[in-house]
Amino acid sequence: MPDVHRVLVCRRLLPAGLDLLTEAGHEVREGGLDATPERLRELAPGCDAIVADASVPVDPTLLDAAGPGLRVVANFAVGYDNVDLAACREREVAVTNTPGVLNDATAELALALTMAAARCIGDAEAQLRAGRWRGWDPGEYLGLELSGATFGVVGLGRIGRRYAELVRPLAGHLLYVARSPKPQAEGELEARRVDLDELLARSDVVSLHAPASDETRHMIGAEQLSAMSSHAVLVNTARGSLVDTQALARALANGEIGAAGLDVYEDEPDVPDELMAAPRCVLLPHIGSATRTTRDAMAALVARNVVAVLAGDEPPNPVTQ
Ligand code: GLV
Repeated sequence: MPDVHRVLVCRRLLPAGLDLLTEAGHEVREGGLDATPERLRELAPGCDAIVADASVPVDPTLLDAAGPGLRVVANFAVGYDNVDLAACREREVAVTNTPGVLNDATAELALALTMAAARCIGDAEAQLRAGRWRGWDPGEYLGLELSGATFGVVGLGRIGRRYAELVRPLAGHLLYVARSPKPQAEGELEARRVDLDELLARSDVVSLHAPASDETRHMIGAEQLSAMSSHAVLVNTARGSLVDTQALARALANGEIGAAGLDVYEDEPDVPDELMAAPRCVLLPHIGSATRTTRDAMAALVARNVVAVLAGDEPPNPVTQ
């Protein structure tokens, strides 16, 4: 009879993943959506695996609470900036994520935000719902026409590449920023690699698809926002830390940029009042990967990674450490 392995699901794992864990004979403890770090440390002792998500800091205190039997941290997300990789490495704990399966859903949401922000959909709908629509006005809610626009994609990884494919039929020009050239995208999508300054200056739409890191923190701040066109749209479905929120709120209020569409924030789930009050800004609650197909696929990947590590096998999605 093999040992029963204990898996701490910090918040919530959908049945598509939970069922795989229980079928493999693992015992699951769930923290629930409101689990605090203290509660997670209470639940962690004796766990062989931790399932976290982007909102759960996986730091030395949680790893140590789990104890020396901990073998894997499986993140229910493609991004893993919430996980202290060095601390995991020191403790010989594997880290896994869920790449690939959320490219379509997240890129589609970035496209939805692009359109919503460009066409003032948030403000227009809010006014109508508030009973303030007084009839057709030829000068109201004049947005940015996307056909023929220059799109700037910051980060041409899997999700950025998919966004670029989706906007290609609309785009007049497609620019991108990436650490290395992407000859295939250049050939297939007629995308041109430029530096961030040029991308910001020339793009009508700027969509962020870079991972969170020390290098990308506040890569869009006051200076970068003032370098953008006054009609330009900024979209962020990557991580909140990429954008200096206060600078963005000011740039919207002062008319330095045209509009913004955001799905992610610096200190989720807090959304600063300045952003809430900013004009021409569409705000969503981190739903980039929220389609049934994608979330089920992510949950199943999380479970397959846990099951593999606990069986002594290579996980399908190790995060390079
Ligand atoms: C979600 O934010 C993810 O990184 O998958």
